[in-house]
Amino acid sequence: MTTIVEIDDLKKVYDGGFEALKGGSLDIREGEILALLGPNGAGKTTLISTVCGITNATSGSVRVGGHDIVTDFRAARAMIGLVPQEISLEPFETVIRAVRYSRGLFGCKRDDAHIEKVLRDLSLWDKRNAKTMELSGGMKRRVLIAKALSHQPRVLFLDEPTAGVDVELRRDMWKVVAELKASGVTIILTTHYIEEAEAIADRIGVISGGQLLLVEEKDALMQRLGQKQLCIELQQSLNELPEALADFDLDLCDDGASLVYTYDTAAERTGIARLIAALTAEGLNVRDIQTRQKSLEDIFVDLVHNTGNKEDAA
Ligand SMILES: Nc1ncnc2c1ncn2[C@@H]1O[C@H](COP(=O)(O)OP(=O)(O)O)[C@@H](O)[C@H]1O
Ligand SMILES: [Mg+2]
Repeated sequence: MTTIVEIDDLKKVYDGGFEALKGGSLDIREGEILALLGPNGAGKTTLISTVCGITNATSGSVRVGGHDIVTDFRAARAMIGLVPQEISLEPFETVIRAVRYSRGLFGCKRDDAHIEKVLRDLSLWDKRNAKTMELSGGMKRRVLIAKALSHQPRVLFLDEPTAGVDVELRRDMWKVVAELKASGVTIILTTHYIEEAEAIADRIGVISGGQLLLVEEKDALMQRLGQKQLCIELQQSLNELPEALADFDLDLCDDGASLVYTYDTAAERTGIARLIAALTAEGLNVRDIQTRQKSLEDIFVDLVHNTGNKEDAA
């Protein structure tokens, strides 16, 4: 597996002292779709802008195709297409001229065949002579993608491509992203919709409070989201977990007054009956039992409390 973007201990402190990125490291694999998932204000746009060299990092480094984004900016930037979060287009410009112009900005020779292909792939060819202000929000978003693809980048960053977009357009956008991946482009997108990351990503990175909390294969992460917890309140407190319960995924809580058992709802056997039998065999009496679904928020909280996991993001 080839690494196409290497992010090493990237930090960003804005003027005024706000630390928006707290030192994340990440290798992006050629050809993958990586979704960076995080709430508003998490630092997603800051991360993307810094990786693309639009914002200067305070420390750390980024290499794209082996080129340093600061010392070898032109070569690194030439490999990148960036679709910004905010739609900004010249209102009176036509679609085709806007896209051609973007290509020119990278010093690339005019290539009408490539521009036509990009516009056709994004279902914009029929609109090529429309002024950008005449387009719907979804079509404008496509023009931004076309502009970002105009110079044939190998890596495409999409910053919240579907924020404020209706369900149908969102699915449309997912299709576009899947097609781009099929054509060999590596895609990094940010989103605050878990369903979006689930629908299209190969890997999911979770970012919160300027920290990259984890980067994991989607399937493994979704499996953790499918976990449930059984909270077992005991009649007598325990100082430690009994040997006989060592096989179970158990945590001692409330100063030993409760056990929390984590299990997979998709598994053939939850292990609950076996656990209850084991508790009885140990002479432990149960006062109350509750279940709760693990949410992405729980996973955030677990990660923040368990700082050791941050190393996994490397
Ligand atoms: N230019 C700036 N100056 C100071 N603070 C900023 C600037 N841009 C963003 N921030 C702050 O950095 C944090 C992360 O912002 P951002 O990267 O836009 O988050 P996201 O894209 O995940 O919503 C926020 O708290 C935001 O207010
Ligand atoms: Mg943002």
